[in-house]
Amino acid sequence: MLLNINCILIVDFVFEHSIFARMKPIKEILEQNLFTKEEIIQLLQSKGEQRTLLLKKSQQVKNNVVGNKVYFRGLIEFSNICSKDCLYCGIRKSNTNVFRYNANDAEILDACNFAWKNRFASVVLQSGEISSPAFVKRVDNLLKKIKQLSNSELGITLSCGEQTRETYRRWFESGAHRFLLRIESSNPDLYYKVHPKNKKHSFEKRMEALQFLKETGYQVGTGVMVGLPFQEFEDLANDLLFFKEIDIDMCGTGPYIEHEDTPLYEYRNLLKTKQERFDLTLNMIAVLRLLMPDINIAAATALQAIDPAGREKALVVGANIIMPNLTPCDYRKEYQLYEDKPCLDEDAELCRNCLEARIELAGSEIGYDLWGDSKHFFNRKK
Ligand code: 5AD
Ligand code: FES
Repeated sequence: MLLNINCILIVDFVFEHSIFARMKPIKEILEQNLFTKEEIIQLLQSKGEQRTLLLKKSQQVKNNVVGNKVYFRGLIEFSNICSKDCLYCGIRKSNTNVFRYNANDAEILDACNFAWKNRFASVVLQSGEISSPAFVKRVDNLLKKIKQLSNSELGITLSCGEQTRETYRRWFESGAHRFLLRIESSNPDLYYKVHPKNKKHSFEKRMEALQFLKETGYQVGTGVMVGLPFQEFEDLANDLLFFKEIDIDMCGTGPYIEHEDTPLYEYRNLLKTKQERFDLTLNMIAVLRLLMPDINIAAATALQAIDPAGREKALVVGANIIMPNLTPCDYRKEYQLYEDKPCLDEDAELCRNCLEARIELAGSEIGYDLWGDSKHFFNRKK
């Protein structure tokens, strides 16, 4: 009997001093505006009913702060030529199984015209990372031509990697006003586990580039991949706190998906299941919506590689941007950053019709003809 009482006392002591005793119920955490790192981890790990509370709350915050509209950014992956060798990416320089392409101006302008005529209001020009003077000049010319063809009505986001301050300035002056540059991971140790450790893939340079973009006046978007090998929940919580600290305007965060022709494929046995990576990405989006209610959050295409309704599910829990693929069909199969990339052979018209129906099914409305700029950008400028 005495032994039993002692046991109970010991159990009580251990419980009171354990992490579990300090954990608040999710319901209580969700009433706060600020969260500790431990609380963020708890939210990211939530499952079942607890998770439902999180996702309901983020949906409410999204609708109250940025509204129910979803904005389109027509995605044009205009070249897969890349000077880098990120260990996760299917179009890395060393992957010789990829046919390298560079869409010509007419093809790119056609896609922009489609976006404009279909009232998408914005396009994203994305490519591998090249910084030659010829590439810089080419993008500069394209920006001017896109503005010309659309009476300056098409908004332009660029996603062309790390460039010099001068290049960012030049492109901004020629009409780009948003830029996406994912940090991939805000933990330098993890960054160097998924990038080669050399000058060409410097974490500091990536950070500096984000700073240049902000100083130039862009609406700046960043993001990470969720479910990378070696990534801990604490890394993801730190990523969210990093987004807040550098005060981003936009976020694109999607699940990591292994690609056979990349060095990281070797570690596929360390990965969470695809479904777990998917669920965790939705939790990341939900927590980010609570932490930064007025930013734009994209429903990443990689979500759709795991679940056909993946992007729409992200819209329900906090995302408000979608990027329909307008890359000319012949090139799409050569822009496979990861396995099972969706919409490889749907033409732009089909993509649009299918998306429209699905977004409406998800209970959102499409913001046709609207740029849908980040509210946060204007709030931070005030
Ligand atoms: N899985 C998921 N996302 C990937 N990206 C690149 N490779 C992969 C992959 N294997 C993402 C990176 C990059 C963006 C353009 O695509 O985060 O910034
Ligand atoms: Fe092209 Fe990473 S492999 S930028």
